[in-house]
Amino acid sequence: MAGRIPDNILEDILSRIDIVEVISGYIPLKRAGRNFRALCPFHHEKTPSFMVSPDRQIYHCFGCSAGGNAFGFLMQYERLEFPEAVEVLAKKAGIALPEVTRQDSQTTSLVTQLYKINELASFFYENNLNSSAGHLAKNYLLKRGLKEESIRLFKLGLALDKWDALINYLRSKNISLSILEKAGLALSKEGGGYYDRFRQRIIFPIFDIKSRAIGFGARVLDDTLPKYINSPETPIYTKGRNLYGLNFSREAIRENDFVVVVEGYLDFILPFQEGLKNVVASQGTALTYEQARLLKRYTHNVVVVYDPDKAGELATLRSLDIFVEEEMAVKVVSLPQGFDPDLFVRKEGIKSFKDRISHAETLFDYKLKVLKSRYNVKEVADKAKISAEMLSTINKFKNAVIKSEYLKKLSQAIDVQEDALLAELKKIKTERSYAEPSQVDAKKASPINPTEKLLIKMMLEEKELIHQIRQALEPADFQDERLGRIVSIMFDLAGEGKQIEPHKIINYLEDQDLLQVICASTFSPEVSGSDKEKIVNDCIRRLKSQKLNSRKRHLHEQIKNAQELGDEEK
Ligand code: CTP
Ligand code: MN
Repeated sequence: MAGRIPDNILEDILSRIDIVEVISGYIPLKRAGRNFRALCPFHHEKTPSFMVSPDRQIYHCFGCSAGGNAFGFLMQYERLEFPEAVEVLAKKAGIALPEVTRQDSQTTSLVTQLYKINELASFFYENNLNSSAGHLAKNYLLKRGLKEESIRLFKLGLALDKWDALINYLRSKNISLSILEKAGLALSKEGGGYYDRFRQRIIFPIFDIKSRAIGFGARVLDDTLPKYINSPETPIYTKGRNLYGLNFSREAIRENDFVVVVEGYLDFILPFQEGLKNVVASQGTALTYEQARLLKRYTHNVVVVYDPDKAGELATLRSLDIFVEEEMAVKVVSLPQGFDPDLFVRKEGIKSFKDRISHAETLFDYKLKVLKSRYNVKEVADKAKISAEMLSTINKFKNAVIKSEYLKKLSQAIDVQEDALLAELKKIKTERSYAEPSQVDAKKASPINPTEKLLIKMMLEEKELIHQIRQALEPADFQDERLGRIVSIMFDLAGEGKQIEPHKIINYLEDQDLLQVICASTFSPEVSGSDKEKIVNDCIRRLKSQKLNSRKRHLHEQIKNAQELGDEEK
């Protein structure tokens, strides 16, 4: 992690800032003994298992194993890269970063290079649109109601009708083809060589929250199919983690305390241009849990506006349950047949569009309406179908009062006894509609040897013990190589007479598992002073015998093999 920025500067920064202050700038923290506690911002939970230690300057979540120091929190929460997180906190701490660390091109990571390439590509596409070759495309956009100022603001561009226009341009900038492929901008040919992914299409750069181009959407100029092609997933672009336009609309979303979610690039641009600023586009795929959480940073109120085909699909409506699970209020607007937001705003005007939005129906009402139009409420079998669909949404509400109110409403709407609905509700397995990614990951990690972990914890708690342990053990005595690495870092630091503090050691670690070991041990109960020495000796003895045993096993095996082969000498 560290590398480019000198360790002493990183440590200086960490000494001058307070992780409690940093984190409480994002989420509310509550005192809990010596520590602070909160609902984890990195996974979904009802009871808080996210801890922050002011003494150790570390955070850790017992639910999803997220953890780290103040740099790590900013990286995870704001999705920053390490150097960016350092820059933010350096500013806060009033520490100037040496100029070289900012512009050391030789060591720039792949990720940094990808941002750079996208920026160059976006610039290239933009120039094409504004050149004579872009006449047709430009007219197409103007005809669709876009203003010149929108074309500029959203950096719209054009991919030329050539197989190698972008490739040649970027080659002239000394960008290697293999990295162009990693950026998703070039594809490799079967017989060798590369070609441009996007050709003869209007380009919509896809920005992240910091307005960096992370990918591209590309639309044909006529009716050929596919209408859009998009960048593939790359190290800097994951479709389901991003919402188109959020970098432009985040402030307005916060101010208005609601967000309008539409589908397409132009469904975003047209309303935005005409004055509806609190809008984002999902880019045509079902919303993900990460996108919901992204929006939740700015508001808890969502209005989705879909064309009538889409809004009438049960799959679409089911996908909106994600907002219910995130305890966000979700409403639905369905436009008249043949309209999407882009067309509606052009034909009917923004006022009329805003009007529809202010009359949005709750997900419950809207879904019920769709179901009632699809099934016959008088038929017994249909009643069962409607109630099953509705109950699965009702089940997602956390608040028991809301649940029971909706049960009552449903019972009246389809004329079924509330008791019967309740009985069905209880049958639904309360499984989440999405996997909790971080928890799945946490389970996959191989178990960590408890003795080895305990030793590390002791070293973190009591510096004196490091020297004692260092005399008795080598890093290689740890069977878990990952832990051996922490130990060797700690031994090195101790040897240099440096302080061993968990939040600073983390700067030396790249491995997520190692980070977890340090963070988790910070929050496990401290061992009382008098027992420490005994425990350490015990652990050392155990590690040594563990090592001896494994050597014995190894020798036994060798002897057995030799015997089987009749190798007397060996
Ligand atoms: N989309 C996509 N790939 C496709 C079709 C659609 O990625 N082959 C995404 C795009 O983000 C698109 C959105 O889904 O903007 C909505 O698709 P659609 O309604 O078909 O297109 P519009 O946005 O209405 O495009 P246009 O108005 O230019 O016809
Ligand atoms: Mn459209």
